[in-house]
Amino acid sequence: MKKVTVTAPGKLLLFGEHAVVHGKPCIVTSVNQRLQLKAEKINDKLFILEAPDVAISNYEKPLNKIGKGEIPKGAKFIELALANFLKKHRIEGGVKITTISQFKSTFGFGSSSASAVCLIKAVSELFSIKLSQKEFFNIAYKTVIDIQGVGSGFDLAAAIYGGTLYYVYPGKIIKPLKINKLPLIVGYTGIKADTATLVKAVNAKAKKYPKIFKSIFDDIELIVEDAIKALLKNDLEKLGELMNLNQGYLEAIGVGSDRLANLIYAARNAGAFGAKLSGAGGGDCMIAVASSRNIKAVKSAIKDAGGQVLEVVVNIEGVKRI
Ligand code: PMV
Repeated sequence: MKKVTVTAPGKLLLFGEHAVVHGKPCIVTSVNQRLQLKAEKINDKLFILEAPDVAISNYEKPLNKIGKGEIPKGAKFIELALANFLKKHRIEGGVKITTISQFKSTFGFGSSSASAVCLIKAVSELFSIKLSQKEFFNIAYKTVIDIQGVGSGFDLAAAIYGGTLYYVYPGKIIKPLKINKLPLIVGYTGIKADTATLVKAVNAKAKKYPKIFKSIFDDIELIVEDAIKALLKNDLEKLGELMNLNQGYLEAIGVGSDRLANLIYAARNAGAFGAKLSGAGGGDCMIAVASSRNIKAVKSAIKDAGGQVLEVVVNIEGVKRI
């Protein structure tokens, strides 16, 4: 086998962001915008990367140097994932990697994590290494921590397992939720969130107000538990109310923004059952749910408020070979 092509889905966090970093559960769903990666064996002991979506072209490094020295931002997750995989399985084969994304890396759909997941899947197939989903997750999670130092790994779980998941950090529980169709409305703020900075800011505040933050994270956990029931029953009205509750706590811990708030209120005022930010906050996307007769109005309101409506289908298949 000389060549393998795989794809992995992007993700959206439905409930429990930030609290998940503090040991609480979250709910994540995968989206139908996918990242594709092709891996080819090459004779030279080199790592070559073409990733036009993140401005990487003709990037080349000897295998014994990967993971070390200066690494351009767009190459980091793939290079480190490769370094971790090759080291763990004591493989020394050269590879050329090419990636293409169906979504912009600025949406917050988790393109970096999806690329690390695709890389591990592709090279494990290329070198005929059988990985359980948990071993797979562990290599991917090590890669994220090597690079960012923080992160719960929920996005890796979504890319690997697909579907909609109940997730406890760091992969302690990864439980698929058998949900029905979820007509999620997604509005992009146009601003890229800096996840690591926001996580660190929340950590700092949680240290300053430990009791208050403990109680907020406990309440978010209750919201997540109720949200699971609402998701399983397809009770969109309740899901919306729980989104509003979750959003209140996210504002309280300081990760809201005026742009997110504009889109969230626009959605609510146009008849959505509820709306909240999705992910780290500060920018990226907001999500909303509405009755089928209000969906159009909610989308128009988000556009009128300056947001970009992203048409996504959620609850999609995880990483796979194509
Ligand atoms: O910004 P995103 O979509 O990667 O989500 C971050 C979610 C956090 O809970 C804030 C961090 C994490 O790794 O779980």
